[in-house]
Amino acid sequence: MLIDDVHTPAVLVDRGRLDRNIKHMQSRATEQNVALRPHIKTHKSVDIAKRQVEQGADGLTVATVPEAEAFVAAGFDDIRLAYTVIGADKYERLLALMDHARISFCVDTLAGISQASDFFADAGRDVEVLIEVDVGHGRCGVPFGKPNEAVALARQVADAPGLDLCGVLTHAGQGYHGPKTGETRDDALKRTALEERERILEVAAAMFDAAAPDRDRQAFEVSIGSTPTMTHFQNGERDELTITEVRPGNYVFYDAIQVGLGACELDDCALTVLGRIVSKRREDSGTERAYIDAGKKVVTTDTGACTDGYGIALYNATYMREHPHVDITGLSEEHGWLKIPGAATFEVGDRVRLVPNHACVTVATQDELLVVDDDEVIERWPVAT
Ligand SMILES: Cc1ncc(COP(=O)(O)O)c(C=O)c1O
Repeated sequence: MLIDDVHTPAVLVDRGRLDRNIKHMQSRATEQNVALRPHIKTHKSVDIAKRQVEQGADGLTVATVPEAEAFVAAGFDDIRLAYTVIGADKYERLLALMDHARISFCVDTLAGISQASDFFADAGRDVEVLIEVDVGHGRCGVPFGKPNEAVALARQVADAPGLDLCGVLTHAGQGYHGPKTGETRDDALKRTALEERERILEVAAAMFDAAAPDRDRQAFEVSIGSTPTMTHFQNGERDELTITEVRPGNYVFYDAIQVGLGACELDDCALTVLGRIVSKRREDSGTERAYIDAGKKVVTTDTGACTDGYGIALYNATYMREHPHVDITGLSEEHGWLKIPGAATFEVGDRVRLVPNHACVTVATQDELLVVDDDEVIERWPVAT
């Protein structure tokens, strides 16, 4: 089938770019001597996870219990929930998975530690946990500037029955905030990569000495990762602890936000939304407005620090080049709003391909991804959860 025959809206994945992105990130990880444990929340695709493992990925990262279940059911046997999992209902489901796979998740509060400990101790099983550290994002995690809190948590985990402290974990989400005043995009990427590495190693060293001094330092996991910070990641060492694994997810597809941040080029973007012009009008000013059948239910309304509008419109269904005159200015549920200054370039019925701002959220709206090679659809991969 050709792209021109596909029902719209649809989400397309360019297989050549996908494979190139997977190989490139794997070689970045290998050259820095860290395991790559890709976050599958981006693609939710067993087919893509298999390609990542074939290239050398070591375990998978997920965000939710259903994602863990779907990937264990597909045969993956080392799943890390980079999430502070809370609740006996969720622990129950993870316990069931522990018969088939290595399962680990995050803790970052005394309450969370004691709830997990009560459950797994009662069940007579030890579950691996990592202490989540906040290296500047401001979301979950013990703040990096409070080593006493981190050490207290680590001691509590070390003493908690049912829990096995296997390391520390962070996600430098501040990389998505873009440059500070006076900084270039590249400076911002370098700064956040350095913050992620230095801050987690500092906390890891303090925790290790307080809570796990008898353990093998090499076996203490120090897990970091985001797509923007991977651009400048260099491994480092503190008190004989190093970064042991990285967990980027978005890099398989990239998206308009990553282009805006300077974390990739437009030509790296593997995922596009395909829509069709369903109406158009010309304003008195000469500006043409066109409306496509891909709205917020597929493009999604995320915006980014260094992006305008809701994505990047491409020349046409085949060529992945930016359309210099087309802005995606708005989204209704089923309509994408395009603004085309100057001469009309689209007719009603024409297909438009666009790179959405945030590929991970676009995937979560879909049941399947259409895999394309040039203008041909060569496979359909289900979205697993
Ligand atoms: C905890 C955690 N780890 C890893 C990632 C992957 O980062 P990215 O999407 O930048 O590749 C995320 C992304 O949200 C995350 O929240």
